[in-house]
Amino acid sequence: MVPLKLAALIFYIISFLTTSKSVDEFTYNGFRSANLSLDGMARITPNGLLKLTNSTTQQKGHAFYPDPIIFKNSSYAPAFSFSTYFVFAMVSGYQNLGGQGIIFVLSPSKSFEGASPGLYFGLFNQTNNGKFSNHIFGVELDSLKNVDIQDIDDNHVGIDINGMKSVSSNTSGYWDNKDLFHNLTLNSGQPMQLWVEYDGMEKQISVTLAPLQYSKPNRTLLQISYDLSHVLKPTMFAGFSSATGPIQITSHYVLGWSFKINGMAQSLDLSRLPKLPRVGPKTISKVLTIYLPVIGVVSVSLAIWGVVCYVNRRRKFAEVLEEWERDYSPQRFKFKDLYKATKGFRDKEILGRGGFGKVYKGVMPRSKSEIAVKRVSHESRQGMKEFVAEIASMGRLRHRNLVPLLGYCRRDFGLARLYDHGEDHRTTRVVGTLGYLAPEQNRTGKATTSTDVYAFGAFLLEVACGRRPIDPKAAPNDLILVDQVFSYWNEGDIFQAVDPNLSNDYLKEEVEIVLKLGLLCSHSEPKFRPSMRQVMLYLEGALSPPELSASGQKFAQHDEGCDGIPLWSYPSSSSQTVFTQTSSVSNSLLSGGR
Ligand SMILES: *[C@@H]1O[C@H](CO)[C@@H](O)[C@H](O)[C@H]1NC(C)=O
Ligand SMILES: *[C@@H]1O[C@H](CO)[C@@H](O)[C@H](O)[C@H]1NC(C)=O
Ligand SMILES: *[C@@H]1O[C@H](CO)[C@@H](O)[C@H](O)[C@H]1NC(C)=O
Ligand SMILES: *[C@@H]1O[C@H](CO)[C@@H](O)[C@H](O)[C@H]1NC(C)=O
Ligand SMILES: *[C@@H]1O[C@H](CO)[C@@H](O)[C@H](O)[C@H]1NC(C)=O
Ligand SMILES: *[C@@H]1O[C@H](CO)[C@@H](O)[C@H](O)[C@H]1NC(C)=O
Ligand SMILES: *[C@@H]1O[C@H](CO)[C@@H](O)[C@H](O)[C@H]1NC(C)=O
Repeated sequence: MVPLKLAALIFYIISFLTTSKSVDEFTYNGFRSANLSLDGMARITPNGLLKLTNSTTQQKGHAFYPDPIIFKNSSYAPAFSFSTYFVFAMVSGYQNLGGQGIIFVLSPSKSFEGASPGLYFGLFNQTNNGKFSNHIFGVELDSLKNVDIQDIDDNHVGIDINGMKSVSSNTSGYWDNKDLFHNLTLNSGQPMQLWVEYDGMEKQISVTLAPLQYSKPNRTLLQISYDLSHVLKPTMFAGFSSATGPIQITSHYVLGWSFKINGMAQSLDLSRLPKLPRVGPKTISKVLTIYLPVIGVVSVSLAIWGVVCYVNRRRKFAEVLEEWERDYSPQRFKFKDLYKATKGFRDKEILGRGGFGKVYKGVMPRSKSEIAVKRVSHESRQGMKEFVAEIASMGRLRHRNLVPLLGYCRRDFGLARLYDHGEDHRTTRVVGTLGYLAPEQNRTGKATTSTDVYAFGAFLLEVACGRRPIDPKAAPNDLILVDQVFSYWNEGDIFQAVDPNLSNDYLKEEVEIVLKLGLLCSHSEPKFRPSMRQVMLYLEGALSPPELSASGQKFAQHDEGCDGIPLWSYPSSSSQTVFTQTSSVSNSLLSGGR
């Protein structure tokens, strides 16, 4: 009696334990607080999504209801009816490329250590795939076409028993009320509903797919007659498996899940399901492939344009101060200011054209004072020399009747080469104004009334003869204007010096006065030059024209007989010509003047 009672008690305890441990239904509206058994890549996201795969390639991910579920009364008993319902989503980075997919699975074990990823979905391997001993039932949502296992296409739902080669499969889609079929793209990123039902009496498996927010269609996607009693063991684990292949661009999610033995799985509260990651890869890909490159190209172009404009502007108005300019820097103007003053060197502002450049009218932006701006092209080497010389003479040459040189500006080029050409800076400085600067000014650097008279004399000769005081292009004998005029006078025909452009359209007496005055003012000794007052009297005719002493032989140059003191010398930067004149010349000129 006693052993029998004990046996009954043990049996009772065992059966109690079994039934108490087993559940026959569960519902997950999201998995936030779910106690699922996860392995591999599978995890539950903070907002409650069951994420089966991540971007790691050749990996597996499993998620199972933690406890076993009883599917049969005994090993040889028929399998119970069951149903499951879940919402899933496959979010692909690219429209045309799917991941492996998701498989709903009933398995005698939660462990799949020996299984392979990729096409085996983390459930089987090459050795055991298709073997009866696996005791695995699955419904695959496959977005890859694998010919090895005879997949029908790259977007199908299939019923798998003991292996990945589907027992039956159909293209993903659903039948609507009017019996029209609609394709559904599994990896569209859109959540979808799937119902899997097994009728233990009819031995029938049916699978129904539908978009979210769509009530369960009457017509199934897949329906086959199959007795699962031989496949299912008395206790099984229910869950999901997924795996990644050599390329992984799809994320596999389960949003909610319900299951029931011997009855219809509960419907889910769709409003409580967790949200998929906000920016779907599809949207990203549109942004990335269309808008981002366009925005990128536009903004890069704008940036380059901006930089080019800035650099151009900087270059246009760039000011580089060279060492030699230090002394003159207070007189140096900004190109920007001159540019503004002359309204961008507008043709309308041109006052005149000189040999070395154009002269523009301008108004200084700040002081509103009127200025004339001479623009010298750096291509004109001679112009540059004059330019440098003018800078060097700045502040030395000043007269109320002369336009003062206010300053200068230098850009597009360096002038140090020109400036440094002569060994002695002071010598070179005078070069450009050769013919206007009196010889003693070269030595003392000081401007006096006599140096003004000298410059005026050079000016008189220049106007009357129509050529510059020093003409580097002229024949060596005619290089120095004053020398040339003097020799014509010496030859007794001073009118040979007159500007040929005047033809004979002038009063001989007037031109004679101008030429002789010019010679007189050009005397090398300041004290022998007439005063400006005297010059005026000569020009007005109040004084009779200066009579230069007559006989020619007295004016021979380098006359050994005379005291040959060189009166002035100009080392020229271009030719280093030394110009000398004997005192006798000047003396005679002067004697005439007095
Ligand atoms: C994928 O999941 C596995 C397991 O959770 C983890 O070790 C791995 O770092 C994950 N990889 C990425 C890229 O998230
Ligand atoms: C989760 O499930 C495992 C396996 O059944 C179990 O050991 C564990 O105690 C469960 N945890 C919770 C918090 O229910
Ligand atoms: C399993 O056993 C229970 C009670 O023992 C019984 O009610 C039920 O019909 C059995 N199910 C099947 C499918 O045999
Ligand atoms: C295949 O899977 C089974 C079951 O998990 C395992 O026992 C076996 O070792 C695996 N075979 C290979 C080649 O991995
Ligand atoms: C399903 O079929 C039932 C009757 O067979 C019908 O009343 C119901 O409207 C149908 N539902 C859909 C969604 O077609
Ligand atoms: C649905 O998919 C199948 C298989 O890919 C294709 O042959 C069919 O044209 C598709 N139907 C529609 C309406 O897109
Ligand atoms: C697959 O779908 C077709 C209709 O497109 C249907 O006729 C066929 O029965 C379905 N296959 C199964 C196994 O349900």
